[in-house]
Amino acid sequence: GKGEYDHFMLKEITEQPTSLAQALEGRIDSANGRIALADFEPGTFADVDSVQFVACGTSYHAALYGSLVLNQAGIRSTALLANEYSVSAPPVDDDTLVIAVSQSGETADTLAALRQATAAGADTLTVTNVVGSTAAREADDALFIRAGPEIGVAATKTFSSQAVMLTLLAQRIAADRLGDPPADLEALLAELEAMPGRIERLLDESTARGIADRYSDSESYFFIGRGLGFPVALEGALKFKEITYEHAEGFASGELKHGPLALVTPETPVFAIFTGQEDEKTLKNAEEAQTRGAPVIAVCPDGHPAVDAADEHLAIPETVPDLAGLLANVQLQLVSYYAADLLDRPIDKPRNLAKSVTVE
Ligand code: M6R
Repeated sequence: GKGEYDHFMLKEITEQPTSLAQALEGRIDSANGRIALADFEPGTFADVDSVQFVACGTSYHAALYGSLVLNQAGIRSTALLANEYSVSAPPVDDDTLVIAVSQSGETADTLAALRQATAAGADTLTVTNVVGSTAAREADDALFIRAGPEIGVAATKTFSSQAVMLTLLAQRIAADRLGDPPADLEALLAELEAMPGRIERLLDESTARGIADRYSDSESYFFIGRGLGFPVALEGALKFKEITYEHAEGFASGELKHGPLALVTPETPVFAIFTGQEDEKTLKNAEEAQTRGAPVIAVCPDGHPAVDAADEHLAIPETVPDLAGLLANVQLQLVSYYAADLLDRPIDKPRNLAKSVTVE
């Protein structure tokens, strides 16, 4: 049940320290500075030349996150919407790994893409929450995120577990393929182990409710981020529109000036996500919106230059750029939750939506 919580969504947001610890359990070998994935011996991915991720919705945002980590690690990769795959799949060969990311493992679009990739001769892997799901049975291999059941239609804890597992997997693929673990792997692993505690602190100290309250009668809500902040901006906007029924859009920070800026007014708050990847550019982009009257909410650590420049601050603990966006995402989940609660929406079961979409 929901226990002390009004909604499953809040319960599931609050569970993230535990669900992430479960995801990581036994998968980080700190003594040797290595990633230990049972079923995937070191060298498993040595022949992987390129990776295609297929997924929908929130899982697509996690897939994009994983794909960016892989590209940054030097492995060719791309994240594709599973529902577009049938008309626009890039070619695959024996050395292409197709990774289907799906919380339920039952999403029809994602299963169709997985089947198409198999028929085209690619190796396949699924990253899923559900043992025994169709994706887990049909893919060559499965990596489970161990988030536990998620009841709220809005994916929350499963997104953070997907993104963390995809980050680990990306680093493992890169290490296997390139022969050496990346130089900064040990630091990343230590930061990963610190994530549950950091989310705990963030949840305790969050100012999300007040921010949701102050901007609750805005016209439209924008989310911007660069690098690994970009998938988080997309996810922040999806969560917001899904449960508040208010218009929200996510953009790459640098895209704002290529069109969306025309929409910016004092009625369009801009949530700017800072991950430590060219933050000065993102700050400039946010300030361009602020000049047009938009309130800017900076999602960044205390002491960051954006704190003073912005109108509001959602604080995240300091960490490495590979993980900062995931902390920002937890703050944005809370903003969406409180905004929807103020509007009295049926948070756990938004209109027109289903937890698992089993039609194409
Ligand atoms: O079970 P899946 O991860 O394959 O589901 C994919 C999407 O339908 C899902 O992530 C959806 O976008 C979420 N309800 C968004 O919160």
